[in-house]
Amino acid sequence: MARLGRETNTKHRIFSYLCAATVLSLLLVLYFGPDGRTSSTGIPVNAREILLQCDEIQALPGPLPGFSERKFSDRFVPGTKDVWIRNATIWTGRVDGLETIHGDLLLSGGLIKHIGPVTTANIEASENFEEIDVRGAWITPGIVDVHSHMGVESSPMLSGAVDGNSIQGTIRAWLRSLDGLNTHDESFHLAVSGGLTTSLILPGSANAIGGQAYAIKLRPTLERSPTAMLLEPPLDISGTASDYVGWKHMKHACGENPARVYGDTRMDSVWAWRDAYNTARKLKEKQDSYCASVRQSRWDNLSGAFPQDLQWQPLVDILRGKVKVQTHCYEAVDFDNFVRLSNEFKFPVAAFHHAHEAYLVPDVLKHAYGPTPAVAIFAAFSGYKREAYHSTSFAARLLDDEGIRSDHPAITSRFLLYEAQQVHHFGLPGHKALSSVTSTAAAVLGLNHRIGFIKLGYDADVVVWDRYPLALGATPQQVFIDGIPQLVDTNPRSGSLSQQPPKVPNYDLEAYDALKREGEPTLDTVSTITGRTIFTNVSNVWTRNNAGVSNIYNKFPCVIVEGGHIIEGATHEDCVSLATQSVDAVVDLNGGSIAPAIVAAGTSIGLQEIAGEVSTIDGVVFEPSDTDAPRAVLGTIPRAVDGLMYATRDAVLSYRAGVTTAVSAPSSSVGEYGLSASISTGVQHKLVQGAVVQADTAIYISLQHGTTPSISTRIASLRRLILGRTKGEAGSWFGMIALGLVRLVVRVDSADIIATLIDLKREVEAHTGAEMKLTVLGAAEAHILADELAAASVGVLVQPRSFPYAWDSRRILPGPPLSEMGQAAYLWSKNVTVGLIPQGIDDSTPSMTGWAARNLRWDAGWVASQSNLSMEDALALVSTNVDALLGVIVKPADADLVATSGGDLLSFEGKVVAVISPRRSLVDLF
Ligand SMILES: *[C@@H]1O[C@H](CO)[C@@H](O)[C@H](O)[C@H]1NC(C)=O
Ligand SMILES: *[C@@H]1O[C@H](CO)[C@@H](O)[C@H](O)[C@H]1NC(C)=O
Ligand SMILES: *[C@@H]1O[C@H](CO)[C@@H](O)[C@H](O)[C@H]1NC(C)=O
Ligand SMILES: *[C@@H]1O[C@H](CO)[C@@H](O)[C@H](O)[C@H]1NC(C)=O
Ligand SMILES: *[C@@H]1O[C@H](CO)[C@@H](O)[C@H](O)[C@H]1NC(C)=O
Repeated sequence: MARLGRETNTKHRIFSYLCAATVLSLLLVLYFGPDGRTSSTGIPVNAREILLQCDEIQALPGPLPGFSERKFSDRFVPGTKDVWIRNATIWTGRVDGLETIHGDLLLSGGLIKHIGPVTTANIEASENFEEIDVRGAWITPGIVDVHSHMGVESSPMLSGAVDGNSIQGTIRAWLRSLDGLNTHDESFHLAVSGGLTTSLILPGSANAIGGQAYAIKLRPTLERSPTAMLLEPPLDISGTASDYVGWKHMKHACGENPARVYGDTRMDSVWAWRDAYNTARKLKEKQDSYCASVRQSRWDNLSGAFPQDLQWQPLVDILRGKVKVQTHCYEAVDFDNFVRLSNEFKFPVAAFHHAHEAYLVPDVLKHAYGPTPAVAIFAAFSGYKREAYHSTSFAARLLDDEGIRSDHPAITSRFLLYEAQQVHHFGLPGHKALSSVTSTAAAVLGLNHRIGFIKLGYDADVVVWDRYPLALGATPQQVFIDGIPQLVDTNPRSGSLSQQPPKVPNYDLEAYDALKREGEPTLDTVSTITGRTIFTNVSNVWTRNNAGVSNIYNKFPCVIVEGGHIIEGATHEDCVSLATQSVDAVVDLNGGSIAPAIVAAGTSIGLQEIAGEVSTIDGVVFEPSDTDAPRAVLGTIPRAVDGLMYATRDAVLSYRAGVTTAVSAPSSSVGEYGLSASISTGVQHKLVQGAVVQADTAIYISLQHGTTPSISTRIASLRRLILGRTKGEAGSWFGMIALGLVRLVVRVDSADIIATLIDLKREVEAHTGAEMKLTVLGAAEAHILADELAAASVGVLVQPRSFPYAWDSRRILPGPPLSEMGQAAYLWSKNVTVGLIPQGIDDSTPSMTGWAARNLRWDAGWVASQSNLSMEDALALVSTNVDALLGVIVKPADADLVATSGGDLLSFEGKVVAVISPRRSLVDLF
């Protein structure tokens, strides 16, 4: 047990207790010791263990003295070569994230051994090293994710490895995420390829207390076990404390999630906490009074053994300050409850996760017991349930103004840095945005003595980037974890890419407004100009043409808009003279540009408000194969145009981000089914001019494995429908697919099902002689059939960043640095017509993707930034191609345009300031 002693002075303390006990015992007669056995001196034979136990329960976590002088990391893998990284631009994370060093790094023994100039002497000390010249590339500490379910909610998702949530009860403090960690999760290596090196693996949020969380390093280990991935495990796992005493982490959850699972209310959840913490408090008091007797050598005063309880000790550890309390909490009421709990039982809160309303109640957070909790928030993911309704993209910068740290757990952790880039765009200073996913995150985990910084003696977890890390598309060229390079065969591309920070827009007024409106977006602040608007200092004007998108800048040195139409052929002189005459608005774009408006496909925008609230959505439609469909709907086909809802949160936020139309189809239990409609995102209701752009654009069906009836049944039924063997309204609509009069859009990911669809298309065409129009949406595995899709003229709508959410989508093309091209760019290079759909939280649920539509501008920029796509091509990915692939017919002259100031629509520099709508004969100014 001596190995459990924490510090040298602890050992001294124990020694002196033992001495005191010996002295006192001489004065005592025999008594029964704690375990019923006594020695002849009257001291229990296990007195030493009891004393150590009393000591151990109070030992606080953290590095032991001498930690910073360690020569090797406890995670060092013998045989790992030293690495000399030459000529780097090193963002260290130190000095509040403001320090940048130009020079070299030496990684050795799993640690950072030298920073700055590395001398020959430094190198000579190393026998076996590799030298890498990174030619000035940016280097940061490895990215740290404070909120991850990797391994416990694995990808692809299979029912045999869903270990994130126990549903055995609301208090589960004794459970451990480590016990459910699936080492086959595809996310590990994908996350590493995005620069992630450490993640905190939390149980899910179905319980008021979900269990213990563990920090892990994401590299593969020789042992291939979950335990070998642990970073600074707590004593109850490691059994030893040579360098450190590891922190424990405890997952708590407020609000909807735990309440829903158990049919509880918030009141029940709070009582469950108080009851549990009260049990823990009583146990702690017993232990303390027991140890007080021990310390005073009142062995006579002990009744029985040291008070222990395996179930409740984890909560006692919280009361003893040995645990980082990690709490999933969204709303004001929930923060208030948890802060009250922390004061009632006197324990600090490490971080509130999700924390959508934290920006509204900073004072509540400051009242928490101990230091102010950090918050770990998303950049954009919001609105999907009531708790997330009052969120804003300005939360990070608003919280920063209040002096609270912000962390940003991502939904696909590989792209956590993208979250940091977005909050930077919305106003969080760059050094803080970078800190939020490195040094601040490390502090939240109690690991900032070894990760999250580039500092001498820290773990050799570093990322070499291909461009400035907050620049759009930044991708690792190499990732080191414990000094071990994680990427093989990567092509360094830093030479031509931007190594400069993006110049982000000013959003002071918008942030203030968001706070005032408590995150509820509105169209009320938009000013509509039906007369004449002049846009000055315009760098580019891209517009739609019949084939795609082209740059018409040369024709328009400045841009005059009348009644929503660009006046063709206006000269600079026209602009100057008009600007002094009757003009309704002059908009200085400050070097920005005008570009085609973006189209959101594959979402439920226009058919729902809050995905998680049935009273706010159009509802779920029946499919032809549903056996429980009421007779009345048999033979009909649902039309999105009949269920439209306007001015919803996602619609308004999308509009303000340059997404002026959405093409949505009714939701079915497996995706979509029915006729889609193209609608305007920027109007108050359906009867406004231009509210419905086009009804009945295409027929949607969804084909995913794991649903009933089987894929084979569904294909048989589809064949029958298309070949016109079914009567009724549905039959005639499907019959038009066979004649090439209506497009069929299929939500599908599996290459096998896509192949069957291509086959079916041939069969139908052989039958009718007409060309069947087919689009596959989602299409995660479509690249496997790139040539076949191109040959069959089948277009695809894909997510910008592929991820193997399900078995159907497991064979992804991961994109740089794991493959030369990402899926969209690859399909493009193969002459397949490609469009982008928003990156939701999975790839098959339209109701969970509407929030992401407003990121389409950067998603297209991202795809272009990682490939050779031109600006015109990239714009087509989110405008003309999407409409074409969904059967939306728009005359180029009628199509909406978006004006951005400071930069173009697809960049972090640009700010959307106006929508130019010929269709609606107006300009909307934001
Ligand atoms: C570092 O790399 C940059 C960019 O390639 C180059 O201009 C510079 O000369 C290099 N410096 C050294 C010391 O090699
Ligand atoms: C002896 O035990 C009692 C009850 O457990 C406790 O109240 C008291 O403080 C203890 N006395 C000492 C000297 O530890
Ligand atoms: C146009 O905008 C650019 C970028 O902000 C700026 O440098 C330039 O001075 C502006 N030109 C005019 C004429 O205002
Ligand atoms: C794509 O189309 C272009 C122009 O039609 C052609 O030059 C090129 O060879 C095609 N590429 C492939 C991979 O088919
Ligand atoms: C981009 O173009 C260059 C030169 O034409 C070529 O070497 C490179 O492979 C291309 N990269 C991608 C991702 O298409």
